[in-house]
Amino acid sequence: MLALGGNSPPAATTLSFTSAISSNKELTASVATSNSSFRLSTVASAVPMVKKTSSGVNFIRPHLRTLAPYTPIEPFEILSARLGRAPHEIIKLDANENPYGPPPEVMEALGKMQFPNIYPDPESRRLRAALAEDSGLGAEHILVGCGADELIDLIMRCTLEQSDVVLDCPPTFTMYAFDTAVNGAELVKVPRKKDFSLDMPAVLAAIEKHKPKIIFLTSPNNPDGSLIKEEELLEILNQDLLVVLDEAYIEFAGEPSRMTWVKEYENLIVLRTFSKRAGLAGIRVGYGAFPSSIIEYLWRAKQPYNVSVAAEVAACAALGNKDYLEDVKNKLITERDRMYKLLLDVPFLSPYPSHANFILCSVTDPSKSAKQLKADLAKEGVMVRYYEKEDFRNFIRISVGKPEHTDAFFKALAKVAQK
Ligand SMILES: Cc1ncc(COP(=O)(O)O)c(C=O)c1O
Repeated sequence: MLALGGNSPPAATTLSFTSAISSNKELTASVATSNSSFRLSTVASAVPMVKKTSSGVNFIRPHLRTLAPYTPIEPFEILSARLGRAPHEIIKLDANENPYGPPPEVMEALGKMQFPNIYPDPESRRLRAALAEDSGLGAEHILVGCGADELIDLIMRCTLEQSDVVLDCPPTFTMYAFDTAVNGAELVKVPRKKDFSLDMPAVLAAIEKHKPKIIFLTSPNNPDGSLIKEEELLEILNQDLLVVLDEAYIEFAGEPSRMTWVKEYENLIVLRTFSKRAGLAGIRVGYGAFPSSIIEYLWRAKQPYNVSVAAEVAACAALGNKDYLEDVKNKLITERDRMYKLLLDVPFLSPYPSHANFILCSVTDPSKSAKQLKADLAKEGVMVRYYEKEDFRNFIRISVGKPEHTDAFFKALAKVAQK
C-alpha cells in the first residue's frame, strides 16, 4: 500500500499501489477525493493549501510506474518482532549471509575509526591497494561500491540506452532483472536447463536475434550453486557484447576468480563482494574488476562518496586477516558438504550439488509446497528462501550456517514434515 499525504492519513488517502499504477486517471481521481476529506478534517493543518491537486505519480518516469517493488529479505530486528523471538533464537538461512561474521580486527578497527566526520576517499585508495594485493590485479582495474548491487546498477547506468537489451539466464540473481527495469532497458530471458547449466544454443541464438548489450553470468549461480563451464564463458566472451561475470560466491567454489581476465578481455567485468567471504553484508562493500577502457566512465558516473569511511575501514581490516577468512571459508564448505549428504536422506527434498554457501532443493512430494514449508519452518524460528514462480516452482534454498544451525534446521524440518 502506498500512503499519500504525510500526517496519519485518513483511510481514503491510502491507495493500493497496484491499482494506482494501472491507470493514472484512477489515481488522480482518488487523490482528489481523499484530499477533499483531508481538507474538511484538518482545518488547522500547518500545510498551506494548494488550489490545484495533481498526483505526484505524474512526476515519476513512465517506465517506473509499473515497476514491481523488489522484495528484500527481512533483517533480524524486523523478523524478531514478527516472529516474537529474540534475534539469537532465529536461524537465518535465507540470504546467504556468513554467520561467522568478519574477523575480530574489523570490530576493533571500527571502534578506533578516525574521522567519521570527514567524507571518505572517493577513490577508496587504501582498500583498492589491499584488493590489488589480494587479487593480483592492478588497483587501476578495481572499483569499489556499496555492495556488488551498487556496481550492477552503475554498470547499467553507464551502458544502457532505453532501447538496449540485457540478456538474463534465470533462475539467477534477480537484481539483474530489477536493475534492467529501473534503468528502462529491455530484458530478454534465456532460461537455464533443468540442471541449471546454460542453454548455450538458446543463449547464442538470443545474442544473434536481440543483439543484447550486456549478458549477466553468475558463477557460482544463485540460487543453485552451479559453475559456468570455461568453454561456454569463452564462447560468450567471443561475442560482441559486454559480459558481466558475477563471482559473489567464488570463494566457496574451489576455483580461482577470473578478475585478472579483464586485462585480456575488453568486454569482461568481474564482480565480487565482501558480503559472503568476509561476513560484511550489513556494512555493504563490493568490488569489481574492469578493463581500462570501461572503468574510466564508471569513475566519472559513480557517486563520489559511495563507499563510507566505515566500509573501507572494515574491508581493509578483513583483508588483513587472511587466515580467518580462509578458516571460515573452509568451515562453510565442510558444513555445506555435510548438509548436502543429510538432505539426500530427506524423502521429500532433492538437493542440487552446490559450489556456493547455499543449497537448492526441489520439493519432490507434490502434497508439500515450498511456500508452506518456508512458513512452517519460520514458525520454528528457521528462515529459508522459497521459489514459487511459474517457471521455477516448488524449490527451497537453504544457506549454509554453523553446524548448530544445520542441526536446528533438520530438527525443525523433521517437526514440520509431520504436518
Ligand atoms: C549473485 C549475487 N551477486 C551479488 C549479490 C549482492 O552482493 P552485495 O551484498 O555485495 O551487494 C548477491 C547477494 O546475495 C548475489 O547473490
